[in-house]
Amino acid sequence: MSDSCPTLRRDGDHVVILDQTHLPYREHYRRLDSLEAVATAIRDMQVRGAPLIGATAAFGIAVALRQDASATRLHEADALLRQTRPTAVNLHWALDRMHAALQSTPPQQRSAAAWHEAEAIRAEDAAANGAIGQHGLGVLETLAGNRPLRVMTHCNAGWLATCGHGTALAPIYAAQAAGRDIQVWVSETRPRNQGLLTAWELARSGVPHTLIADNTAGWLMASGQVDAVIVGADRIAANGDTANKVGTYLKALCARAHGIPFYVAAPRSTIDMACPDGTGIPIEERDGDELRLLNGVLPDGEMGRLRIVDATTSTCNPAFDVTPAGLITGIITEHGVHPANALG
Ligand code: MRU
Repeated sequence: MSDSCPTLRRDGDHVVILDQTHLPYREHYRRLDSLEAVATAIRDMQVRGAPLIGATAAFGIAVALRQDASATRLHEADALLRQTRPTAVNLHWALDRMHAALQSTPPQQRSAAAWHEAEAIRAEDAAANGAIGQHGLGVLETLAGNRPLRVMTHCNAGWLATCGHGTALAPIYAAQAAGRDIQVWVSETRPRNQGLLTAWELARSGVPHTLIADNTAGWLMASGQVDAVIVGADRIAANGDTANKVGTYLKALCARAHGIPFYVAAPRSTIDMACPDGTGIPIEERDGDELRLLNGVLPDGEMGRLRIVDATTSTCNPAFDVTPAGLITGIITEHGVHPANALG
């Protein structure tokens, strides 16, 4: 990746995103020219990943205030963006921060101040990614000694999900840059298949990786083929319980059963000290068509959707699950590596 943030950037008084609903099949950049377009981009997962959702919402406030920077408009934009996705606390963190920066700014200066604050959020996320990478590299080096390391990840917590090098993938990129022999097990992450995004990212950076079906993870751990698991997070409660993409909990249980270290990598903005434990984390329930339809490329090269089950089939599609702190070996933030049960 380049340092210019391919996932999200300002272009005049618009925002340009890398539309992730087209990946890994084609690289399509989308111009967002209204508050509604930004809200749709977050809700429909054109942008996704907790830190990127937060930064995009911040830019959404700036887009909303271009012509009308009144307190009413600020409130309206905040309310619309806040309800786009419920679990990633970075969304609320970024909107709270925009509100704090803008509420006492005179309306005639508010638009410029909004762009400035959104850029600051983006830059700080990139810096946090860099620090997470270095702290995570320390963890990996301790685990590896001089041998090759096989790391498993779930979902996509790489540069596509952030404004920098990613969270869970940042230590992997740092290990690669340090000349470490590292290989990554990438779980598919049904139903949205964010693992395909991870495979695409790692391929572009030349990191050796292998795509697996989610159900393969247990066998790989049981047969001694996994040295560590690193995942990202959407919200970490004060006691260390961690919400991340559904399927994370199963990997944590399995890692514990086989004595494999299980790390969560996330910026401070993902920690919700107002939420005492995992039971307070809202879990997003998404449309059942994410299970009933498969996205892919048709024989004519165009993207298409394939129905794999009848529209009347009942579904249950929580986007996230919660891993109890007791299953987490450590939480890697920009400030260091913390025991999950001692975040305070
Ligand atoms: O539904 P998504 O794709 O937004 O979920 C993403 C995840 O669960 C990531 O692991 C998490 O947001 C961390 S991204 C650095």
